[in-house]
Amino acid sequence: MRLSLRPRSGCLLLCLCVSVGTLLLQSLWVPGEEGQFIPAGRSPDEQGQRGSHGAQRGGPRGDRLSLRLEALSSQLQSLSQERDSPQIDTQHLHLLMQSLRQDQQGLVQSVEEQLKRISQKIDQLSLHHHHHRRHRHHQEEESPPGDGPGPGESCSVTLDPRYPACSEKVEFLRVRWQLDPCYAFYGVDGTTCSILTYLSQVEDFCPLRPGRNHSVLPWRQTERSYTEKAEVRATLSSLYEGVSSSRGPALGFIRSRVEQMSQEWIQAGLRMKQQSQNNTDSPQMKVLLYPGVLAGSAGQQFGSMVEKGGPLGELVQWADLSACLTILGHNLTLITSKDHLHSLIGAAPGRGSCPIQRPLPFDLIYTDYHGLAHLQGAMGLAFQHYQCRFRILDSFGTEPAFNVDSYARSHGYRTSWGSWGLQPLQYMTMFPHTPDNSLMGFAVKQEVRTENRKENMAVVYGKQEYMWQGKADYIQVLSSELEVHATVYQPPGGSALLPPAVTNHGLLAQDHFHLLLHRAKVFVGLGFPYEGPAPLEALSLGCVFLQPSLMPPHSPHTSPFYRGKPTTRKVSSQHPYAEHFVGKPYVWTVDTTNLTAVRQAIRDIKLTQVKPFTPREFTCAGMLERLQAYITHQNFCNASSPTWPPEGALRSHLGPLGQSCVSVCRWSGLVCEPALFHRLNNPKAFARLGLSCSVSEQEVNHLFPAYSPWGRRCGLQGEPLLFSCAGSDPQLRRLCPCRTYPPGQVALSPDGL
Ligand SMILES: *[C@@H]1O[C@H](CO)[C@@H](O)[C@H](O)[C@H]1NC(C)=O
Ligand SMILES: *[C@@H]1O[C@H](CO)[C@@H](O)[C@H](O)[C@H]1NC(C)=O
Ligand SMILES: *[C@@H]1O[C@H](CO)[C@@H](O)[C@H](O)[C@H]1NC(C)=O
Ligand SMILES: *[C@@H]1O[C@H](CO)[C@@H](O)[C@H](O)[C@H]1NC(C)=O
Ligand SMILES: *[C@@H]1O[C@H](CO)[C@@H](O)[C@H](O)[C@H]1NC(C)=O
Repeated sequence: MRLSLRPRSGCLLLCLCVSVGTLLLQSLWVPGEEGQFIPAGRSPDEQGQRGSHGAQRGGPRGDRLSLRLEALSSQLQSLSQERDSPQIDTQHLHLLMQSLRQDQQGLVQSVEEQLKRISQKIDQLSLHHHHHRRHRHHQEEESPPGDGPGPGESCSVTLDPRYPACSEKVEFLRVRWQLDPCYAFYGVDGTTCSILTYLSQVEDFCPLRPGRNHSVLPWRQTERSYTEKAEVRATLSSLYEGVSSSRGPALGFIRSRVEQMSQEWIQAGLRMKQQSQNNTDSPQMKVLLYPGVLAGSAGQQFGSMVEKGGPLGELVQWADLSACLTILGHNLTLITSKDHLHSLIGAAPGRGSCPIQRPLPFDLIYTDYHGLAHLQGAMGLAFQHYQCRFRILDSFGTEPAFNVDSYARSHGYRTSWGSWGLQPLQYMTMFPHTPDNSLMGFAVKQEVRTENRKENMAVVYGKQEYMWQGKADYIQVLSSELEVHATVYQPPGGSALLPPAVTNHGLLAQDHFHLLLHRAKVFVGLGFPYEGPAPLEALSLGCVFLQPSLMPPHSPHTSPFYRGKPTTRKVSSQHPYAEHFVGKPYVWTVDTTNLTAVRQAIRDIKLTQVKPFTPREFTCAGMLERLQAYITHQNFCNASSPTWPPEGALRSHLGPLGQSCVSVCRWSGLVCEPALFHRLNNPKAFARLGLSCSVSEQEVNHLFPAYSPWGRRCGLQGEPLLFSCAGSDPQLRRLCPCRTYPPGQVALSPDGL
């Protein structure tokens, strides 16, 4: 085992601390639900296997655990601060829960993670222990007792250099096979023979028994079974059939959103069909949609929040994604239960250490971080084989430096979320944060209204009381200029504590909220929630969006909300997309601590006329076009598939010191295109940009390719997964692959359409 463990006592102490913290957290939050957070995710065995073969994610180490402990303790701190406030009651806890949920990858998952780590840690400690004992055993007795050769077969472990892990693996299973029933399911009974059979016919760690070959591993599939071309559909009925068989408030929300927008989807689909002569150019894919966050107990709570007007951003995306894929003609399955997942992918009974029983029946799986963990905990080795087919809905994005486990660990980019080693473009975000990830986005409903009569009225964005704290002066200035309306949750029989000049409507259903926005002149951000869908809805209804700038910008270092997220982004306003991609006259970003500036902005806004506006990428047509392009061109399974966008799109730029490629390209009105980094990663590219290198070196560094004027050093990237638009260093000038994009569709290249 290649595990470097700290002294046992230290680890156990850490484990103990984390357990205590975890229990505390649980009892604080969901009384009476102990145990429900215990994951059926990746089992200890699985982790052991990976650790022992260094396949991907190395075994957990002491520093990893302490990092998590740190994160947990900060979470605990903020929770206990909340608890100390006097008005705490169940309602309050619910609201707290809601706000925590705002984060797609909420705390539930992080508690799950903690528990998983602890159990893995303990397992590995004991495994390590066993392992050493075993080794000593081995040296004493030449052959292990009790399992001589079976009839007609030799069951000794042969040393074959092509299978370096075989003997280690046999050893491992001999000790561990009973800890996951899946081994017995595949015929392992503890004998060397059965283990060797398993390791050569279900996994491929050992040489084949005579008469077998590895291409017949039951779960492996190299070719996809495309048969038909996808044809644009003019109905969403196949989606309704799929969704109506499942229940729950979250699915109810998804269904009703799709229904409300169905005409828009269908019209957009028909227009697309006309333009492309029925030809979508992509094969019909079998697609699985698995919002892991809705599976299990977390899902029930998430669901109940939907009914209370909780955060819906992710559900909006799931709804729009399923409508989009249906219109594009793909064969869709949407599920929200882990059991259902297991049966669809053919997981072996047990705890997920073994590969699935047959080839994966889906060409694409859209899931989230939770679902990714569920998949890994159910597919054994097959997880890696098929990971190129996964797409992760990841609202806030995952930068490359956080994605590669070994790099993240050695360079201080470890978080609870990253480290999966997928292609960065497999993570799909809600807004275009960093072009390292793909923009999934969503579609804003276009209201058809003839008349657009605006009253002198502001609607405040913030459904919960706590979001209003510390904003009294700002609201005061607002209400001196405009009639201020709010839609803040009011506990039954009570009322929300808001400044007296504010008219509170309580939580409104979507239609009523839209009616209110329709009358309003301004939609007003308070600084939180960050980066939600509502400001775009307001723009589509003809409002101006007024939002606070965040000075200094919020980042994972300064903001509890972004802490632990796999990004280094500096968030300069409540809604950076609105600030950078939309801007005036629609979006006004103001320092709200400067009341003069606020008053001035409001007066200017009152004099401004705007029409309803939606950037193309957030319309149904724009989303269809984008997803269609992704499905046709993004192929992470075949290294020799053509580059997309094509290389002709490349506009090379040399950045100034200390700038990321995200900003270098943006400065030129372009966007960074990570798929073209490989074109800049050679000495010729440096020369073309007028740089002469005295030293050229290759390094694993997410800022490379880059140039350092001190010593004229040219740095080339040694790990393609680390090509990163994000990231900067005051000592480095980055080489940036930029490209143009059509107005309002930053994800696509005009040449690549
Ligand atoms: C492996 O098995 C498959 C199917 O049984 C067969 O078509 C193929 O030729 C075999 N390959 C080798 C290298 O024996
Ligand atoms: C497109 O499909 C429709 C029916 O689905 C058919 O009537 C029409 O001829 C097709 N158009 C082209 C250009 O293939
Ligand atoms: C989707 O695929 C399943 C399984 O192959 C099949 O039974 C079903 O008919 C397909 N549905 C559509 C709408 O193509
Ligand atoms: C406040 O805003 C006004 C108007 O934009 C500006 O002139 C002034 O310098 C700002 N004051 C501070 C302290 O930033
Ligand atoms: C990979 O892509 C290349 C080029 O498009 C193609 O020729 C090849 O058949 C593909 N391989 C597989 C396994 O799909």
